[in-house]
Amino acid sequence: MSKIIFANWKGRVKTETEAVRLARATDAQGIVLCPPHEFLNEVAAVVQHAALGTQDYAPDAFARGARYALVGHADRRSAGDTDAIVADKLALAVTDGLVPVLCVGESCVERNSGATHGVLKRQVKEGLSKYLQFLASSGYNLTSSIYITYEPLWAISSGKGSVPCSSEAAISRIAFIKEQLLHWGYDIAVKYLYGGSVTAKNCLQYLNKNDIDGLLVGSASVNPNELKKIWHSASKS
Ligand code: PGA
Repeated sequence: MSKIIFANWKGRVKTETEAVRLARATDAQGIVLCPPHEFLNEVAAVVQHAALGTQDYAPDAFARGARYALVGHADRRSAGDTDAIVADKLALAVTDGLVPVLCVGESCVERNSGATHGVLKRQVKEGLSKYLQFLASSGYNLTSSIYITYEPLWAISSGKGSVPCSSEAAISRIAFIKEQLLHWGYDIAVKYLYGGSVTAKNCLQYLNKNDIDGLLVGSASVNPNELKKIWHSASKS
């Protein structure tokens, strides 16, 4: 299993019974289940192979079994998380022992006005700022990579008229982020994910690319058959 699949249930799972059923049906190594915060304990109690992630940083996430934390997801940014808040959450996640997954991506308006690179630069630079300060001041030795997800807002399935981003475009954005990190002299290990309308049908175009280390899957992740097919493709890539 070389590629990782983050299953971001968002608010789609409403009850504990549903959460436990879905977790049992999709419990596989290489999958990170990200249930709503209130079901973390119940999901942690039943999974044996999958890892757990929190949909947003929370101080009790690690104690509830999460080992990964999404930060800066479009849902959180639209609910008011600024780059400064995202930066705080990312650094807090690391100090708690969680592997952070920084989500970045431009809106449709930003893309159409040619602002994509500017947005990515700002979200990555500011998002990592507190974490880098923390690394510098503590001499903290990070043993695992952090993740950056390129997830353009216009590709997220709940958005109006959303379409998946082509793998070529996703790779070019990821390459741009990598160039920026080099340019800024950031000596950190980063793995890259793509997110936005990923399905069992289109996942291979991303999974086949060396520059994409995994996927952040939203709506398809609450359909066990869909997620299993995506996981199956990931385990072969
Ligand atoms: P989607 O959601 O796969 O339904 O587009 C992705 C996400 O919001 O993380």
